[in-house]
Amino acid sequence: MKITVVGAGGNVGATVALSIAQRDFAKQVVCIDLERKDGEKTFYPSKGRALDQWQTSPIHLFDTHLVGGTDYEMTKDSDICVITAGVPRRPGMSRDDLLSINANVVKSVTKQLVEQSPNTIIIVVSNPLDIMTYVAYKASGLPANKVMGMAGILDTARYRAFLAEELEVSPKDIQALILGGHGDTMVPLPRYTTVSGIPVTQLIKKDKLDAIIQRAKVGGGELVGLMGTSAWYAPGAAAAQMAEAIALDQNRIFPCASYLTGQFGLDDIYVGVPVKLGKEGIKEIIEIELTPEEKALLDNSANAVRTGLNDLERIMSEA
Ligand code: 2OP
Repeated sequence: MKITVVGAGGNVGATVALSIAQRDFAKQVVCIDLERKDGEKTFYPSKGRALDQWQTSPIHLFDTHLVGGTDYEMTKDSDICVITAGVPRRPGMSRDDLLSINANVVKSVTKQLVEQSPNTIIIVVSNPLDIMTYVAYKASGLPANKVMGMAGILDTARYRAFLAEELEVSPKDIQALILGGHGDTMVPLPRYTTVSGIPVTQLIKKDKLDAIIQRAKVGGGELVGLMGTSAWYAPGAAAAQMAEAIALDQNRIFPCASYLTGQFGLDDIYVGVPVKLGKEGIKEIIEIELTPEEKALLDNSANAVRTGLNDLERIMSEA
């Protein structure tokens, strides 16, 4: 099992790589990123980070060999590729700027990856997530079951962690589902949230649950506010969990950004829905029943993603 992580010189990519290695299911993790020039000096962040991480193997007790570099030839015949490349939004940068910069990065990275590994499975982590996953799908030429986005595991992890704190229970016992795009319109579903099978609504007052749902929806923003940059530990761990489910053909059920062709009444769009993950990638999209209110929230979230896709199309046609 060979896994490539692109953007591995950055915090998210490096955490994906180390989380995968610590789970010890892959033979090799290839860490790709651009070189960085500083005056006369040239640095190789993904090579350095991979070397540093590999040197933790005798301590963490894993066999997964981490190697880094800038050359896509190193990625040849990867079973899974994780794309974390792209820029975060900086002051003065419009949403359109971010969209077009990252779309061009994800498109170019995807093409280079597929050239080396025509049968790979792609997990996209770059933001805006649902739109970047759509871009990777179109650029890859791969079937839709092999291109997916990581957001739902991260968003539910935040929701589950907040619930565990509030209820004073183990986060391990909380099961939850979040649908929709990776943004403020995401749709946590209390009806599908349980604590060891007990509906969460029996354990918590509505106003408390509503506050937790609201906090989970803006969970990424809370961390940007605290750190001045976006999160990496939970995003990295979440992407590693997806890679593991695929590598070990675990048939795990996770919310992932998936290409819809009519499921949930949505077509030609990537949004988060429950899927079964295994060796072919997305083996099945699980079309759960939604109340009219839940469906309206999902439609609202899908509309937000659709607006972003339309904006991207406009920007690209003007360029
Ligand atoms: C997050 O939600 C940046 O998408 C990432 O933290």
